[in-house]
Amino acid sequence: MQSTARAHPNIALIKYWGKRNTELNLPAAGSISITLAELSTDMSIEIREDLDSDQLTLNGARADDLLPRLSNCVDSVLGRERPRVDIRSSSNFPVAAGLASSASAFAACVVAADALDDQPRTRAELANLAGRASGSAARSLYGGFVELENEPSSVVVRNLLDAGDWPLEVVVAVTSEARKTVGSGEAMELSRKTSPFYAQWLEQQPDDLDTARTAVAERDFARLGDVAEHNCLKMHSVMWSTRPPMVYWTRSTIGCMETVRELRRGGVPVFFTIDAGPQVKAVCMAAAAEQVERALSATDGVLRTLRTPLGEGARLLEGD
Ligand code: DP6
Repeated sequence: MQSTARAHPNIALIKYWGKRNTELNLPAAGSISITLAELSTDMSIEIREDLDSDQLTLNGARADDLLPRLSNCVDSVLGRERPRVDIRSSSNFPVAAGLASSASAFAACVVAADALDDQPRTRAELANLAGRASGSAARSLYGGFVELENEPSSVVVRNLLDAGDWPLEVVVAVTSEARKTVGSGEAMELSRKTSPFYAQWLEQQPDDLDTARTAVAERDFARLGDVAEHNCLKMHSVMWSTRPPMVYWTRSTIGCMETVRELRRGGVPVFFTIDAGPQVKAVCMAAAAEQVERALSATDGVLRTLRTPLGEGARLLEGD
């Protein structure tokens, strides 16, 4: 028995940085994201009675370091008494460099594992299971514009607008392909414990969520860009003020931010956001995407760019 699912990474415009409950991996606040179409993870899970332990192949190579989290994720869907599985995953973008590879991986994992179970779950249940594995993964179950609401014992994830309802595009400027040294889960716990700005960050999150939700409903690009950039820089201020400091930027990250501001000064509808990594994601109106990509490609230190419209939620490609 085997099933294959595809999921796309998402990028948060209103960020998740901090946990309320580490055991259940519940976020300390809500978040709003967009799901990307061109970047994807395909994951096949095959039941293998002949194996003594699970195995994982990532882009064709064994990846034992990433296996425990994926095995736990499969357990959360099929139960701990399940047979062993062979997991094969391939992503068409750099892993662990701030491009939300864990979000697409765990979203694909829960959908593929669910197809091997007798009792299929609802999307809401799958979002909660994906969120337990990685908070941001819960959002990749849905397409377009997605809000994750933080309820007392679970997360409620809903689609605010479909991808086609407001066809924005994203240009990712890749400034480093190195794996990050501190993962976001660990880093945000350090922020919670040591950053003097952490409490204010959380306190202001409901206002930013309200503003972004309204901007999305009204397709108000300038307002969305304004709150998203501010929210991103607040999160990075929390990261920078963590002990030890979590500085994910390179010189080129800052250069890309300047390129985006320069474009905007020239009237181009674009804003940036940056996650726990050095890549800059420029969100723009579709008509401006080519110009934005050209400007970012020409920015010092940019290795390459990826350009994508918004995409759909995680789905099954095939299952027996
Ligand atoms: C900066 O979802 O990777 O991308 O729940 O510990 O797996 P865990 O964290 P993760 O953190 C994402 C952090 C972020 C912001 C965001 O996507 O909202």
